[in-house]
Amino acid sequence: MKNQPIGFLDSGVGGLTVVKEVMKRLPNEQIYYIGDSARNPYGPRPLEEVKEFTLQLAEFLVERGIKLLVIACNTATVAALEVLENELPVPVIGVIESGSKAAVEVSRNKNIGVIGTEGTIRSHDYEHQISNLLKDAKIQSVACPRFVSIVEKHQYQDDLAKQVVSEELSPFEGSKIDTLVLGCTHYPLLQTIIQNHFGRDLTLVDPGVET
Ligand code: DGL
Repeated sequence: MKNQPIGFLDSGVGGLTVVKEVMKRLPNEQIYYIGDSARNPYGPRPLEEVKEFTLQLAEFLVERGIKLLVIACNTATVAALEVLENELPVPVIGVIESGSKAAVEVSRNKNIGVIGTEGTIRSHDYEHQISNLLKDAKIQSVACPRFVSIVEKHQYQDDLAKQVVSEELSPFEGSKIDTLVLGCTHYPLLQTIIQNHFGRDLTLVDPGVET
């Protein structure tokens, strides 16, 4: 088992931000990655459909002998973590639990922002997990559906990206958040632009790094 690969899945390239961290910290591990670019994005789809797709990707990786599965996608974690934990013959790790824990550890004023896909934000999973860990946390969640296509199209360093980031993050204007969870594995590629938008006082949490 020691020599078997670790499997990662996502709807596209976003999960590679998680793989990058693993390659830094566990350089001897063999990695299998599947990004479902054919059916990207997952964010706007009904969670039942995302669950079905995620099961297909997971089975594909299990058939190839992975020893552990990392769901390197927040939307797929919301949709399928529980069923995969119950049904797969290997351990399964999602990204939402560790992202929530890190946000609670980092925030000083207990005002925490979460950004993610429509599916992740609609599920309120981050809100539930953060409030379970920190009862009086004030959480503001915002869906940023346009970020994923910018990353998939490799436009994340363009001026267009700056404009889209400032438009999508406008609901946070005047907000007191001191911490923001990047609740989609595509978003770390926009990290610099997001950080510049808010300024240095805001701490960004990347659940992929935590995972
Ligand atoms: N990278 C994914 C996530 O973390 C999904 C992006 C999408 O397909 O909408 O939620």
